[in-house]
Amino acid sequence: MEPTNFFTNNTREALKNDPPGEWMPPVPEDCISLSSGYPAHSLVPYDELNEAVNQLIDEEKDLPFQYLGGKRQKAVKEYVRNRLVERGVVLLEKELLITAGAIQGIDLIARTMIDRDTFIVVESPSYMEALEVFRNYTDHFISVPVDREGLQTEELAKTLQDRRDKKLPLPKLVYTIPTFHNPTGTTMSIDRRRHLLELASEYDFLIVEDDAYGELYFDSHETPIKAMDSGSRVLHIGSFSKIVGPGLRIGFVAARGDLIEALSWFKKDLDHPFAESTMGTYLAKTDMKQRLQMLRRVYHQNSRTLLSALEKYMDGIATWHKPKGGYFVWVHVPGVNTSELLNEAMREGVAYVPGKHFFVNEKDGLEYLRLSFSSVSREELITGVEKLSKVMKRNKQ
Ligand SMILES: Cc1ncc(COP(=O)(O)O)c(C=O)c1O
Repeated sequence: MEPTNFFTNNTREALKNDPPGEWMPPVPEDCISLSSGYPAHSLVPYDELNEAVNQLIDEEKDLPFQYLGGKRQKAVKEYVRNRLVERGVVLLEKELLITAGAIQGIDLIARTMIDRDTFIVVESPSYMEALEVFRNYTDHFISVPVDREGLQTEELAKTLQDRRDKKLPLPKLVYTIPTFHNPTGTTMSIDRRRHLLELASEYDFLIVEDDAYGELYFDSHETPIKAMDSGSRVLHIGSFSKIVGPGLRIGFVAARGDLIEALSWFKKDLDHPFAESTMGTYLAKTDMKQRLQMLRRVYHQNSRTLLSALEKYMDGIATWHKPKGGYFVWVHVPGVNTSELLNEAMREGVAYVPGKHFFVNEKDGLEYLRLSFSSVSREELITGVEKLSKVMKRNKQ
């Protein structure tokens, strides 16, 4: 008997891909990690969360440990709905689903919308974990490049027109990170947001808007595509990972009620009453406006430090994009294969994410790397870039 013979056809196909998480090999302890998209230890509000947990258990006793949770659990939904109204997205209660992080939202959408023969559009490059999730369901990716103004909707329009002319299958959905994109840090212009919505209606597809970094702008905020969506074509995904703590695993999907109903069908009762109630209690005790302002200030300053270190040490050997928010700087080092150099860089004492992991066609990303300014100190950002520049200079052709 061979137990793996019992896998479904879909599972068999999915398991042909690289295993998840290959993009993040173990980083030695003394190495400066510019690879991880985590909040810094000091920015996770563990004292306040500790108080929230204690208050929650004092007040609700066993309820957060029951299947159905207690009153505090509902506070997360209330917070998200109120915050989205401020950002131009008005939702009914049934139009919002709390998920185990943004990534569960992506998985549920993929599960409910994608068959093995479904075509989907992804940005090139795109968030590697979302690519991993989508690969569990389909191999039919249409990659559309990103530039300084985000997804190149003109290119998308040409591709769609071409596919229609040739009677090729059209995509069912477009997955985009329009605001402070991972990995490029770019933001989609308002004109392109409009254009994308027009294309969605002309070619009849849905837009999955991943807004994991939307709250972390440095100067001015961006309008979510969902706020401009009169045709209910946008499924808007958000997360508390980058603004509170990723270990709580709390994210959400906002979309039309019948879409949300289908997602919750598959989510079943995989809620996390304890984590959600903890977050609910924390949110009720916290001035989130003030907290978000503090985070924006810190990350803005971190990004400035990283950018000036790049100017000091990498000028002439690399180019990069200056982000207006989020966690990342995307660096192009012509003539260097960034995957081949990762081990050497880690021996030198710095880690990054090689660009190839963010592309469906890995070859497109060989000369790129992603640096994160979210989780290490400013001194480490500077030393990390200095070390990185040594490795790049030694190996540049
Ligand atoms: C674009 C993007 N979407 C989603 C996620 C995952 O968020 P969560 O921790 O809420 O699952 C991340 C985390 O790195 C991300 O960069």
